[in-house]
Amino acid sequence: MANLLSSAPIHASLPDCFVFPPDQRPPASSQAVSLPVIDLSRGRDEVRRAVLDAGKELGFFQVVNHGVSAEAIRDMEAVCAEFFRLPAEEKAAFYSEDTDKPNRLFSSTTYELGDEKYWRDCLRLACGSPVGDTKNNWPDKPKKLREVVEKFVEPTRGVGMELLRLLCEGMGLRPDYFEGDLTGGDVIINVNHYPPCPAPGLTLGLPPHCDRNLITLLLQSTVPGLQVSYKGDWINVESVPNAFVIATNGVLKSIEHRAMTNAALARTSVATFIMPAADIPIGPAEELVGEGNPPRYRTVTFDEFMRVYKTVGARRESVEKAFKL
Ligand code: OGA
Ligand code: NI
Repeated sequence: MANLLSSAPIHASLPDCFVFPPDQRPPASSQAVSLPVIDLSRGRDEVRRAVLDAGKELGFFQVVNHGVSAEAIRDMEAVCAEFFRLPAEEKAAFYSEDTDKPNRLFSSTTYELGDEKYWRDCLRLACGSPVGDTKNNWPDKPKKLREVVEKFVEPTRGVGMELLRLLCEGMGLRPDYFEGDLTGGDVIINVNHYPPCPAPGLTLGLPPHCDRNLITLLLQSTVPGLQVSYKGDWINVESVPNAFVIATNGVLKSIEHRAMTNAALARTSVATFIMPAADIPIGPAEELVGEGNPPRYRTVTFDEFMRVYKTVGARRESVEKAFKL
């Protein structure tokens, strides 16, 4: 519990364990980029084309008019920020470094490589589908947390599934290709909390990584911090009110991204990950392989994929190398 960042008093200087090697530190300044912003209330043909183009080109885009109410988003952001403001004693019961625990609060690490710690606390919640009793495994404080998270995750999962259907249609797969086991794992919510940092130029909140799940819906907060790797540069992702930042994976591009810290403001983001069931094989759709288009990666169970990802680290290159045929 000692290193739980948000419980610590104001940090006067950055402890050494958070200092990254010079070549991995964030640049002093960088450009902002507007990711494609896709209005999901437009005609289906137009939306399908936009989603597919963005998924192919970048693997990162934003969606608005997605059907998750502004109220559900506002309540979610508020209750998450409130959770991190609880006194340390009240959060302690939930703190665990056991990575096999589906619901826990942890600090500073997730990706196993390297000695540096990341300037981040994280509340991880596993949500069944429907949420049902799984919410009883979540923190019972703040009092509204369980209800608010349930009201947020149900429609957010719906948006993720709709985006997958649109992507399938765009790629010529049956629209329900991802229904069932391929999205049958728990939906995982990571509430990332980046407290004000005494030296944002020396550290990172999250190191460069590609997400390991199928599709991610991120509420990125109005406090800036999210960056994507684009043509060799790290570029800030502009915040659009009530938008989700969408990261596709596997199906299309999976872009590397990371999170910066900020000297003045705490930043809390909410990532919703749609996951396959653990024991099912992950490989290319039969419809997409054939003569002249052989599979490029080994087919493995999702469990095995996660195990390897943990050992080789989250960088695109190392993960690709581990599975290349
Ligand atoms: C993540 C992630 C970015 C952010 O949780 O996987 O990339 O801005 N978060 O917090
Ligand atoms: Ni991510």
